[in-house]
Amino acid sequence: MWLLTLYRSTIGKKVIMAVTGLMLVGFVIVHMAGNLQAFLGANKLNGYSAFLKSTGELLWLARLGLLAALIAHVTMALQLTQIARRARPTGYAKRIPQVSTLASRSMRWGGVLLLVFIVFHLLHFTTGTIFPMASVPGAAFSETDVYDNVISAFRTPWVVLVYVVAMFFLMLHLFHGAWSSVRTLGLTKPTPRPLERKIATAIALVVWLGFTVVPVAVFFGVIR
Ligand code: HEM
Repeated sequence: MWLLTLYRSTIGKKVIMAVTGLMLVGFVIVHMAGNLQAFLGANKLNGYSAFLKSTGELLWLARLGLLAALIAHVTMALQLTQIARRARPTGYAKRIPQVSTLASRSMRWGGVLLLVFIVFHLLHFTTGTIFPMASVPGAAFSETDVYDNVISAFRTPWVVLVYVVAMFFLMLHLFHGAWSSVRTLGLTKPTPRPLERKIATAIALVVWLGFTVVPVAVFFGVIR
């Protein structure tokens, strides 16, 4: 079957990475925009969270879709890394990067860091397993008061640091992933100054800023 043949080829695996990566980019943009409602107060953010939870099966469908995209994305990354390693079992004696960027060179280990962050993040804000934060007396995880969870969490410096650093790596990953996926899918033609690179830069910067501003604003008391 052609689908299986595609899956078995390196380009097929790259196409799966690109499609699932773009799905995840879509999610982070929506999530970032949703988080910005923290600036509009507790009612707005908690109302948004309650609305999402009230969609029931739809929410689960979206969760399953996201999880499937993430698993496929990571599996393809592992397989492609293995293929690349097999093709060059001994590394270069000396490697001076010519045209690669920090973003492209950090895709593999940056991706692993993001995966660790996602697990931490779900245990933090979704299940509340690693709540309350020790340095905030009386802080307790609430299933319904997402706003309070956010305020309690980001009063603790190391938690803010974890999120700020993770969002920096997300920015790098998004920048390279967003434009290279468009290339993989052959949606644009190679040019010296590709438009998709500009769009990827804009997406990476907006997502980085939009996510980072919330923990930083809580920490400095702008959101309270
Ligand atoms: C500063 C950055 C971020 C903040 C402040 C933040 C905040 C939150 C909060 C408060 C929730 C719980 C929402 C609720 O229960 O209604 C949540 C859920 C979630 N976040 Fe984030 N988030 C951030 C970054 C990210 C990133 C970068 C990703 C993915 C790459 C991510 C993925 C998720 C997922 C998958 C959920 C679970 C959604 C569900 O319940 O199905 N978050 N986030």
